[in-house]
Amino acid sequence: MEDCILVTGGAGFIGSNFILDWLQREEASIVNLDKLTYAANPLTVRELEQNERYKLVRADVCDEHAVVDVLTRERPRAVVHFAAETHVDRSLHFPKAFLETNVTGTHTLLLATLRYWQALTQGQRDGFRFVHISTDEVYGSLAMDDLPVRENAPYAPSSPYSATKAAADQLVGSFYRTYSLPVVTVVPSNNFGPRQFPEKLIPLMIRNALRGECLPIYGSGLNVRDWIYVGDQCAAVRVVAARGRAGERYHVGGGNQIANLDLVRELCAVLDELRPTSRPGGYASLIAFVEDRPAHDLRYALDCLKIADELGWRPEHDFRTALRTTVRWYLDREEWLAQVDSETYRNWLATNYPVDRYRLQNG
Ligand code: NAD
Ligand code: TYD
Repeated sequence: MEDCILVTGGAGFIGSNFILDWLQREEASIVNLDKLTYAANPLTVRELEQNERYKLVRADVCDEHAVVDVLTRERPRAVVHFAAETHVDRSLHFPKAFLETNVTGTHTLLLATLRYWQALTQGQRDGFRFVHISTDEVYGSLAMDDLPVRENAPYAPSSPYSATKAAADQLVGSFYRTYSLPVVTVVPSNNFGPRQFPEKLIPLMIRNALRGECLPIYGSGLNVRDWIYVGDQCAAVRVVAARGRAGERYHVGGGNQIANLDLVRELCAVLDELRPTSRPGGYASLIAFVEDRPAHDLRYALDCLKIADELGWRPEHDFRTALRTTVRWYLDREEWLAQVDSETYRNWLATNYPVDRYRLQNG
């Protein structure tokens, strides 16, 4: 076995931050199996390739031959599975891609990893970990006064995205119970930070604000998410990969619950300061309420005591400082945002945000 870990989906948002973080702090090298879908920004792909201990294998996680081949050749001591179709809105239009990558892909990776793991020595098997990245969305919507959910909460996914993530989680659990494959599941809340594709709330708002375009708020804007800075998320995944107990699940939230409208107003205030606009009322005047997302979950909230008690992990980044760092990162790299302004991306925006859906806040 080599001093190497296999990451899937490492060219995406959390995966790329995880790889960059890992290579700075750990000795082991990284092999990244990634299909390079629309979610993988070419500038991120290039940034990762500057490191000598990093290798990209462009492949689909559903491709059994490719997955077996990479495991056999690279002989990793852990697998960290980020690869997924991740955008709820896309899942409403194209659920099949979510089933394929999130369910079939996870199954393919589990089966190939199981065969690889079974052929290791006892000592190697004991130290091996398959780290699966889930989402707080598997638990469905919470009421405003519900307590944060614990790791044993029942599943109630609302969207095709969260339903496929829930199915993947169940498969992962079944491989532990049936075959003793040492899996461990990380359940993150909403991440923010550098290198996130601007279809997700925070980078989309920054992109649109810079272009003087509407900032679309779904429904009332009262929906609450718990935001975690991606640097804290990466630290949690490293801790779980090193010391997480096989068969267990660990919640990883930032402890920053905020309604979407309040968050977007805060973003606008940061932008007003860092990139002043001559627009009367500042960037917040671009806020527009649009038709709600179907089955839009009201609130997510994770109880994260388990990972704190067992593994000593807690988020370290202050929310407002990290939000400023994030805004500054996108302002300093407008060429990164521009990469996604391909025809494919523009068509997607046009389909999902037609101008007549907007109800401008100011009338
Ligand atoms: P992302 O959409 O930014 O990146 C996904 C990556 O997976 C991309 O590099 C893409 O090319 C790759 N990929 C997609 N389909 C693939 C396939 N069939 N084979 C191989 N590679 C494929 O995603 P993200 O936001 O970085 O999320 C990473 C993981 O974390 C996902 O499992 C997601 O469900 C989970 N998660 C994300 C958040 C969040 O706020 N971003 C919150 C909770 C959980
Ligand atoms: P998103 O970033 O898509 O993450 P998720 O749906 O996985 O939580 O959305 C975060 C919240 O922001 C969610 O409640 C939906 C809302 N939202 C908007 O109001 N407008 C938008 O344009 C987007 C993309 C999201």
